[in-house]
Amino acid sequence: MNGHGNLAAACVAALTVLLCLHSVRGDYCKVNLCHNGGTCVTGVGDDPFICICDDGFGGDTCNLTETGPCSPNPCKNDGLCEVIAPTRRGDVFNEYICKCQPGFEGAHCQINVNDCANQPCKNGGICKDLDGDYTCQCASPYVGKQCQLRCISLLGMEGGAIAESQISASSVHYAILGLQRWGPELARLNNQGIVNAWTSATHDRNPWIEVNMQKKMRLTGIITQGASRMGTSEYIKAFKVASSFDGSTYTTYRVDGQRRDKVFEGNTDNDSTKTNFFDPPIVAQYIRIIPAICRRACTLRMELVGCELNVYSNTTGCSEPLGMKSRLISDGQLSASSSYKTWGIDTFTWHPQFARLDKQGKTNAWSPAHNNRSEWIQVDLEKTKRLTGIITQGAKDFGVVQFVSVFKVAYSNDGKSWSIVKDENTGKDKLFEGNIDNNSHKKNVFEPPFYARYVRVVPWEWHERITLRMELLGCDD
Ligand SMILES: *[C@@H]1O[C@H](CO)[C@@H](O)[C@H](O)[C@H]1NC(C)=O
Ligand SMILES: *[C@@H]1O[C@H](CO)[C@@H](O)[C@H](O)[C@H]1NC(C)=O
Ligand SMILES: *[C@@H]1O[C@H](CO)[C@@H](O)[C@H](O)[C@H]1NC(C)=O
Ligand SMILES: *[C@@H]1O[C@H](CO)[C@@H](O)[C@H](O)[C@H]1NC(C)=O
Ligand SMILES: *[C@@H]1O[C@H](CO)[C@@H](O)[C@H](O)[C@H]1NC(C)=O
Repeated sequence: MNGHGNLAAACVAALTVLLCLHSVRGDYCKVNLCHNGGTCVTGVGDDPFICICDDGFGGDTCNLTETGPCSPNPCKNDGLCEVIAPTRRGDVFNEYICKCQPGFEGAHCQINVNDCANQPCKNGGICKDLDGDYTCQCASPYVGKQCQLRCISLLGMEGGAIAESQISASSVHYAILGLQRWGPELARLNNQGIVNAWTSATHDRNPWIEVNMQKKMRLTGIITQGASRMGTSEYIKAFKVASSFDGSTYTTYRVDGQRRDKVFEGNTDNDSTKTNFFDPPIVAQYIRIIPAICRRACTLRMELVGCELNVYSNTTGCSEPLGMKSRLISDGQLSASSSYKTWGIDTFTWHPQFARLDKQGKTNAWSPAHNNRSEWIQVDLEKTKRLTGIITQGAKDFGVVQFVSVFKVAYSNDGKSWSIVKDENTGKDKLFEGNIDNNSHKKNVFEPPFYARYVRVVPWEWHERITLRMELLGCDD
């Protein structure tokens, strides 16, 4: 945090007037006295009005052009500007070329190339073009950046890789005066014998059976089967699926964008198998099958289909930008404790939606209404992802360099109960080292990585005012 000495010094410069006059509310001029698209603001400071100039213009009324063909940078989307010959033709500079970043083209790198044009998504994946990137929405059971991997291992109910101790249930049916135990450990696909499946107790009104996979796995499907007892068929006709990371909070499976729990179609006889895919896949350690409609009794044999998480993360290193910059993360997924308005003017609101790495413009970052440690910015990734790092960046508010120098990171799976990332050595809240200037990228790695749907950055120390642009790093599993 900054001392008051610096603040006084900063007030000398005309453009930093906002720092001295926190409570002043500005307004637009009745007549725009600024040239070249500048914004005219009145009621701020001693001058009757001030102009906020568009890129490339300066001076009190924005009637001066700036100093060289590459200053300010005319190239969009991080294109590099190179001066060819420093000659001046009237007021127009055109003796430069823009060298574009991958994914952009045009004289000023203003065209976002359609990264989907080459059809990068395999196996029926649906491609979505982003700013300088693309994303594939894979059809289950395919996973990976390009849906190139098949996630279809049988996880070991039938084969035995899942041990008896990993399978539990809400209740057990005892038949023939308690001599037959239809326990959860029997719920293995194609199990044979007279007692060969799990059946819930007759009185159990909320039955379930659960498998603890002992680590987080990706599940792409389930194969179910009934059984016959004393010559009659018993099976689950319809069921729901819930999953959990920790065995205490469970999420019932829903298809993306649907408000109701998904009800899966189950079996129709005692022996044939029914396969259901999870599309999108489930990432969890615990998976629970919740019978909804049972024929005679809730009786089940099953197999789980999926794969290890690192099949994907290892091939990519799991440090992909998750989409702050590319806009894969949409505006609606970003929120914050509050937003600052320069001079109280709505147009100069520092929305959380502006906290995108390398965002350009006059208000090009998130900044909260107050500078204290209660403020936060939140990303809802919409599904659980593996988070491995974060890049942060400061910005300038009309010339004043502002940034977050120290921050904490919190995460959550439900948006309600939060965990703060801890320092591995001390066990205390980890204080991440942030920025030192208005523009450079500071990368921090999460060691160990964590899984979460919601991520919050909590500024802890800052320069001038809390001001943040950022990118999250991780991968889809
Ligand atoms: C810019 O405007 C000021 C007054 O508004 C004027 O004195 C000055 O000559 C102008 N400069 C140019 C380059 O037009
Ligand atoms: C159970 O399934 C087997 C194989 O499909 C079939 O032969 C048998 O008749 C079925 N039993 C009952 C009780 O429906
Ligand atoms: C992950 O990738 C690294 C480097 O490519 C390799 O050395 C390692 O064996 C891989 N791990 C697994 C589990 O495949
Ligand atoms: C932060 O500022 C707000 C508004 O002034 C105040 O309500 C809140 O209590 C402050 N929090 C801390 C930790 O100082
Ligand atoms: C802000 O960052 C840019 C790009 O790194 C740099 O050229 C400029 O000098 C910085 N501005 C200030 C006021 O430090």
